Amino acid sequence: MQNKFSRRDFLKAGMGISAAAMLGEGKIARSKSNESGKMVVIASGNGLRTVYKAMEMLKNGDDPLDAVVAGVNIVEEDPDDMSVGYGGIPNEDMEVELDASVMHGPTHNAGAVAAMKHIKTPSKVAKLVMERSDHALLIGTGALKFAKAHGFKEENLLTDKARQRWLRWKERLSDRDDWFPPQEDLDEELQEALRNYGTINCCAVDANGDLAGVTTTSGLSYKIPGRVGDSPIIGAGLYVDNTVGAAGSTGRGEANILNCGSFTVVEFMRQGVSPEEACLRTLERIAETSKRQPHLLDEEGKPRFGLSFYAISKKGEYGSARMWSGGRFVLHDGTTSRKEEAAYLFKRKQRR
Ligand code: GLY
Repeated sequence: MQNKFSRRDFLKAGMGISAAAMLGEGKIARSKSNESGKMVVIASGNGLRTVYKAMEMLKNGDDPLDAVVAGVNIVEEDPDDMSVGYGGIPNEDMEVELDASVMHGPTHNAGAVAAMKHIKTPSKVAKLVMERSDHALLIGTGALKFAKAHGFKEENLLTDKARQRWLRWKERLSDRDDWFPPQEDLDEELQEALRNYGTINCCAVDANGDLAGVTTTSGLSYKIPGRVGDSPIIGAGLYVDNTVGAAGSTGRGEANILNCGSFTVVEFMRQGVSPEEACLRTLERIAETSKRQPHLLDEEGKPRFGLSFYAISKKGEYGSARMWSGGRFVLHDGTTSRKEEAAYLFKRKQRR
């Protein structure tokens, strides 16, 4: 019980007090000042509304974790965003299963849920796992029960649009089964989105230099039920160190899990590398280790998959990089929100 008592004190201190507070013989790493005083919010390309909301809250003096979670909730609740939360692409059994994690720099604490059904905003549940349990990760029915105990309502997360995508996928899966696709061609939108790892990541630093991050997803489209990606894995889909910076990811979760990607990005930043360069070096390492899995490689020995990292430093420097060229990330620097081109490791060939 001694530990539990200390942890409660620790949480209380982390939630309300801005000066460093004592925990046993240690100190919370909450900053007293930010050298630059810059507030920055970074997100994946689908996070324009997210960074806007998060920055509004940072300016209001809210905790950076509250800010980024409120920011991604907009996308989680949007039925038209098929990569996250409500309206996400379902698994092989036509059920929407969600993964999410949060990490709070000042308390160096984190929470996550994985393969959770029926709750629109898994990031909020992940935050409750951090704040209201002694655990870091809850999965499946356990995560759902925990959410319901906290008053979340079970809802049907499958939109009609997502059901239709699933049906097209199912019908085109094999010509040796009994499901027939319709005669007409797939429209362009359906073609594009046949299979992906859609996700949103958002990280923020406030004027004190305090950091937080969140990553949330419906995961790989048509996944095997129970498949968990990188988003809820602390160190892979998200990592925050309040003395250094924060990083998160979108893209092929399996490759990221095998390389502890977000942790690696933060570790490169700790060595003095810029956020963009840290993302690129991590991708380089992932491309290298992926060579041991030939099914992941194209004819030139490069990874067939996409993976992106987003990073900010404690001083408010930021950067993002992708495995393949041709994508943007979103930033709010306290003045404007905008999309910026991400750096990349490999240049995509022009389609003829
Ligand atoms: N990065 C999301 C996933 O692999 O599920």
